[in-house]
Amino acid sequence: MATVKLTNVKKVYDNKVVAVHDFNLDIKDKEFIVFVGPSGCGKSTTLRMIAGLEEISGGTVEIDGEVVNDLQPKDRNIAMVFQNYALYPNLTVFENMAFPLRLKKNPKMSNDEIYERVTKAAEILGITEYLTRKPRALSGGQRQRVAIGRAMVRDSKVFLMDEPLSNLDAKLRNQMRAEIILLRQKIDTTFIYVTHDQTEAMTLGDRIVIMKDGYIQQVDTPQMVFDMPANLFVAGFIGAPQMNFFDAELKKKDGKYYVEVENGRFEVRGEKAKMLAEKNVGSQKITLGVRPEHMSITHEKREDSLRSRLEVNEMMGSELHLHMVTENGKKIIVRVPTLTMDDETKKHLSYGSELFVTFESKAMHFFDPETTNNLLI
Ligand SMILES: Nc1ncnc2c1ncn2[C@@H]1O[C@H](COP(=O)(O)OP(=O)(O)OP(=O)(O)O)[C@@H](O)[C@H]1O
Ligand SMILES: [Mg+2]
Repeated sequence: MATVKLTNVKKVYDNKVVAVHDFNLDIKDKEFIVFVGPSGCGKSTTLRMIAGLEEISGGTVEIDGEVVNDLQPKDRNIAMVFQNYALYPNLTVFENMAFPLRLKKNPKMSNDEIYERVTKAAEILGITEYLTRKPRALSGGQRQRVAIGRAMVRDSKVFLMDEPLSNLDAKLRNQMRAEIILLRQKIDTTFIYVTHDQTEAMTLGDRIVIMKDGYIQQVDTPQMVFDMPANLFVAGFIGAPQMNFFDAELKKKDGKYYVEVENGRFEVRGEKAKMLAEKNVGSQKITLGVRPEHMSITHEKREDSLRSRLEVNEMMGSELHLHMVTENGKKIIVRVPTLTMDDETKKHLSYGSELFVTFESKAMHFFDPETTNNLLI
């Protein structure tokens, strides 16, 4: 059980690279936090500072209210699983998992206690039957579980994981992701998990920390990050295929809001209109964002639509990914479910067809084109 608090944490490497700027985060006891962002954004550096494997250049890291900046990794009571988990090839699975316990000299742990801990962890991870095998006789996913088990046996306050699944193939990764969710329910501890995969971040995290160039972009629940991205970077990073963006005009007239994009005019209704009014947003240039899955197509023109030409139609099984080009030459993607599609629409899905793209107010995201920030936050 532990809280972790980072206050103005900074990392400047010897070569003057500022890898992490002013990182502030309050992690609750038993929370599952995910750091996500593109390569080089400072995820591993931040995790390694929490672990004590990297010196902290500024700010403080607290575990359970105690500043740990100057504590050795072994005194921080944390467990860590890396992408390249090295198992000892000559030791059995049991001995690999027992290894950190045998190292602990003070107080020396009895063999009975070691046996109990290893077998309990093996049971949780479903690897009991492999305890006598050597690592080379295991699959990638099983080895991964041994590496997690080796971290689990130590009764740590905080569990740190740096891209633990990235060496596995796609199928195994999905399976292990589900197992980590189950594991989390069984070992009630605080988790900090690093990944560059937004799906992993969304499915695992209680809260997600989205990073770019050493700066935190947004900290929130997966749902909030998806529904209310703080800026264009977050909006484009979370969701696949990524959100479509348009140069647009927001017009306020007689207490109503309209968005003008190319030759289309969309009235903003409901909750989004209310939020714009509450924030007192006036008429201005905006970047409009709409996710591919929140767009639909019609074959008849209407005022709130964008005339587009179909370039590529990707069949994904349950849905189509329609790659379209608007009148102004903007490339967009629209996801449409195949199950509910009417026959008339299906007739219009050949290469070069003219289609009209539309979307509802609740699907609209409004960004300031200068600052890139969400106008509703
Ligand atoms: N030992 C080091 N010395 C100098 N610069 C470093 C060192 N380690 C990392 N960096 C730099 O710090 C920045 C952050 O690196 P970090 O490894 O934290 O990124 P990351 O988000 O974990 O990326 P990835 O997804 O590729 O693992 C990068 O610009 C990287 O080049
Ligand atoms: Mg990394």
